[in-house]
Amino acid sequence: MALADVLAGVPKGSPEEAISRRLDFDRLPKHVAIIMDGNGRWAAERHLPRVEGHRAGIDSVRDTVETSARLGLSVLTLYAFSVENWKRPVPEVSALMGLLRHYLRAELKTLLKNNIQFRVIGQLDRLSPDVREELEAAVARTATNTGMVFSIALSYGGRAEIVDAARQAIIRGIAPEALDEDVFSSFLYTAGQPDPDLLIRTSGEMRVSNFLLWQIAYAEIWVTDTFWPDFRARHLLEAVADYQRRDRRYGAVSSDPVGATN
Ligand code: FPP
Repeated sequence: MALADVLAGVPKGSPEEAISRRLDFDRLPKHVAIIMDGNGRWAAERHLPRVEGHRAGIDSVRDTVETSARLGLSVLTLYAFSVENWKRPVPEVSALMGLLRHYLRAELKTLLKNNIQFRVIGQLDRLSPDVREELEAAVARTATNTGMVFSIALSYGGRAEIVDAARQAIIRGIAPEALDEDVFSSFLYTAGQPDPDLLIRTSGEMRVSNFLLWQIAYAEIWVTDTFWPDFRARHLLEAVADYQRRDRRYGAVSSDPVGATN
């Protein structure tokens, strides 16, 4: 994918086009992870029930998946439902699961057409069998796709993932001296994927909320005040442009100590 693919999906003369033209397509983040937040506040501002915020958030999911695939990202991970979200009222949880199923039914064809591989990470055994079956079917249908991996974090908790990985390492009989960071990573839900280079959070909150705790060790963080239902291609492109202005040091000294390119 490249500039032409992105331009084909944005209006001519738009801010999206201008940002896209300034991007360096050789220095894109491989993995972008997003904490979708602010659906409830978006709905409250409009005197609507919270679930309407989640419903409107589906359009943002669609737009973000499409733009990410056009950009040529390797992995896009969206935080849809945390282990803590099980504490929400039952009708809100049911509505979220219903929206997820609706999204999958409506979008599976598009995912297949765009060669997108769909995955789910989290404690899936806590989901109801019908939701799990639908997710597993979508994962199986797209398993041989070779384009972008679109991963949904569902019933997901970063600490729970780390504990699950530790359990797996013990079950597989990994000897203490054989356990290093690479071996440990191979037991995470994201095994085989590059760690997120860019973590985006909407609605202005400065928290990581138990999301991909191990994997975001060196991620660049970009926060926007925009509520998730208003998040569109322009915001994603702005985040990537900002990412490209950062000097990633991974704890080492600056490669650009005078800030000449910053
Ligand atoms: C956070 O807003 C958002 C969620 C907990 C759910 C996100 C889910 C969707 C957008 C729909 C389904 C997803 C997919 C991937 C198809 P919040 O309710 O915490 O908002 P608030 O902080 O303003 O209350």
